[in-house]
Amino acid sequence: MRIVLLGAPGAGKGTQCKNIVTRYGLLHLSSGDILRQERAAGAELGKKAQSYMDSGALVPDEIIIEMMAKAIEQAPASGFVLDGFPRTLNQAVELDRALAKLKINAVLNLEIDDRLVAARMTGRRSCPQCGAIYHVDNLKPKTEGVCDNDGTELVQRADDNPEVVANRLETYHRQTEPLVDYYKNNGTVYDFDAGKDVDEVKASIFEELDALDKAFSADAVSN
Ligand code: AP5
Repeated sequence: MRIVLLGAPGAGKGTQCKNIVTRYGLLHLSSGDILRQERAAGAELGKKAQSYMDSGALVPDEIIIEMMAKAIEQAPASGFVLDGFPRTLNQAVELDRALAKLKINAVLNLEIDDRLVAARMTGRRSCPQCGAIYHVDNLKPKTEGVCDNDGTELVQRADDNPEVVANRLETYHRQTEPLVDYYKNNGTVYDFDAGKDVDEVKASIFEELDALDKAFSADAVSN
């Protein structure tokens, strides 16, 4: 399956992707995670992206499209989940071009009220080692401040401060939200109420993807 996750900052894209890839054996390709890894490694790409990310603006399309095209080439035959890409109409068109006959099978649109986002962002903590995502109130690690998976000290993202979050939300509404209509006109979009709790959102997503996965398996048997 080839899946795209759409949603505002803090909608829970990363959190739900981790559940999806485990259940369906897909590769998780997060443009934000790749950019942060490039920054941490001091790579040229990371340096170019830095000022955009820190202000809540989008990194220029040409940088992102090349980076994600390379990442998609590494995906297994079972497929991938794109988290945070595409984020502009131009990126979506280029993604379609890169995939050629391989279509995106499902777009999962996580809908959330802007007013819920701030609390999610300021409380988010993540593991710089394995990428696990926590929240100081909603999704606590077993030991405060420490990753359950590998014992690494959890960190707070630099772009999770209120001023940058406001810019990221504005950027989302202006540049990324139009993609919902783009995909509604070009494929299958599933809308989810991402304001519900993590397990409820997960269950709704699994319900749709289980049906899709079953249809794929039936197709594979009959061909
Ligand atoms: P990116 O890393 O993609 O950030 P984002 O889209 O702003 O999304 P987030 O990672 O902040 O949120 P999320 O939806 O994954 O939420 P999460 O699951 O962590 O991008 C960062 C920057 O990189 C961009 O600003 C841009 O500069 C650049 N960039 C990236 N891709 C680009 C592209 N394609 N083009 C150009 N530039 C690009 O959850 C958040 C918190 O909420 C967590 O603490 C979690 O525990 C909690 N939570 C999650 N779900 C729930 C729930 N249902 N109930 C309660 N709490 C919940």
